[in-house]
Amino acid sequence: MSAVLDPHGHAHDHDDHHHTPTGLMRWITTTNHKDIGSMYLWFSFVMFMVGGAMAMVIRAELFQPGLQLVNPDFFNSMTTMHGLIMVFGAIMPAFVGFANWLIPIQIGAADMAFARMNNWSFWILPFAGSLLIMSFFMPGGAPGVGWTMYAPLTSQMGIGMDLTIFAVHLLGMSSIMGSINIVTTILNMRAPGMTLMKMPLFCWTWLITGYLLIASMPVLAGAVTMTLTDRHFGTSFFNAAGGGDPVLYQHIFWFFGHPEVYIIILPAFGVISQIIPAFSRKPLFGYASMVYATASIAILSFIVWAHHMYTTGMPVAGQLFFMFATTLIAVPTAAKIFNWLATMWRGSLSFETPMLFALGFLFLFTMGGFSGLVLSLAAVDIQLHDTYYVVAHFHYVMVAGALFTAFAGVYFWFPKWTGRMYDETLGKWHFWLSMIFFNITFFVQHFSGLAGMPRRIPDYPLMFETWNKISSIGSFGFGLSQLLFLYIILKALRSGEKAPALPWEGADSLEWTHLPTPAPYHSFETPPVIK
Ligand code: CU
Repeated sequence: MSAVLDPHGHAHDHDDHHHTPTGLMRWITTTNHKDIGSMYLWFSFVMFMVGGAMAMVIRAELFQPGLQLVNPDFFNSMTTMHGLIMVFGAIMPAFVGFANWLIPIQIGAADMAFARMNNWSFWILPFAGSLLIMSFFMPGGAPGVGWTMYAPLTSQMGIGMDLTIFAVHLLGMSSIMGSINIVTTILNMRAPGMTLMKMPLFCWTWLITGYLLIASMPVLAGAVTMTLTDRHFGTSFFNAAGGGDPVLYQHIFWFFGHPEVYIIILPAFGVISQIIPAFSRKPLFGYASMVYATASIAILSFIVWAHHMYTTGMPVAGQLFFMFATTLIAVPTAAKIFNWLATMWRGSLSFETPMLFALGFLFLFTMGGFSGLVLSLAAVDIQLHDTYYVVAHFHYVMVAGALFTAFAGVYFWFPKWTGRMYDETLGKWHFWLSMIFFNITFFVQHFSGLAGMPRRIPDYPLMFETWNKISSIGSFGFGLSQLLFLYIILKALRSGEKAPALPWEGADSLEWTHLPTPAPYHSFETPPVIK
């Protein structure tokens, strides 16, 4: 029987229960990794829409110089909440959703190791998201401090700041519990024969990401807790007047913040490492080197944080260290790009929607990587710090890197998750509209940034008008294109054709494994090594 097609999906769990809740109670009480994975993905999409609406406000305000739409405080709240919601509410939960759906299946486990904690990890999220939104309705509104919440500005904010801090605590708890679950599941619950070096790459990237999260989220919790005690309990961690140092905040924040970048992108690498082999009809090239490259990136990510702080008055020796350490990350990252290209080399390629998004990722993420390399150079960064060049860079990494990959993953696994096919023509439309409008939005921001346009500013001189107009028009198109994604998914859920066992015409038998010979199995539930 196929548990994927079972609308209740309770085949694997509830060994100790005799009745299964239905309706809303099913979703509130579920310990099933597939249910929880679906809830993560839907939550992520809702947050993506909320954060996206805020991006639309930002781009509408910046459509032309001269104040038009919102007051500057509200604009600052928009940039802050857009960043926090997209990072913690949209992208991270999306990949935890993939982890829940895929990891137990890929390693041959019945469910996640801590099924009840899994439920709690998810259900913390709606409360954290609500707290972020509620801060808009507090006196003083949502804090306008940027998603990085730098001191000493945080000391000037109203009670919305405290709600935001509490929300960050909750989001961190959710992430840490999710990571403990994923690491434990992978280390303890692999089927006999499923050695670590036989795991699908997605499991490997999440195993390493789990460690990154467990190591870095408590550091963020520390940073915002110190902010909280500085605000309310008379401490002076970041207050120079009391003997503290605002730059200390930046060190602590970025010791979390840089690994966070890889927390977001490593699972995306895992998804890509499974989609490209599938649509090339070839095993992944350089499996072991992919594992080692992922681990190298993770380790290096802890010694590069101050490349966000070149303008704080760091000694030249410090600038050089962080510059060289940062450029070093280009080596394992380039190894990955090379492996993906080598996987496609002389493959039997086809270009369905998941592959299009994967290739879009490959092209655009490489561009985002190169602009990152530019910014890693201390002498250059001092010119470009806090300009739109930085905004362009990290949106190439975050949107084209993580978001396009999430789309690729959803289209790729949707037939297996739901038993239904989506509309391939509309999927291709979604890809091309996203690809074109993404570049219209963000490519021009390199130019306004190089010309000196500062980020997080609601108004600007006339000289930046053209680039901003183009960028805003692109962003409206990008935003509308995402409604098409929602339509495609809803249409497929409601009336999609029944998916065949192998929706990708033979590519599927390779997507779970790096083994050189096609594995002797033909169903989603049964990885090749299970006896
Ligand atoms: Cu960084």
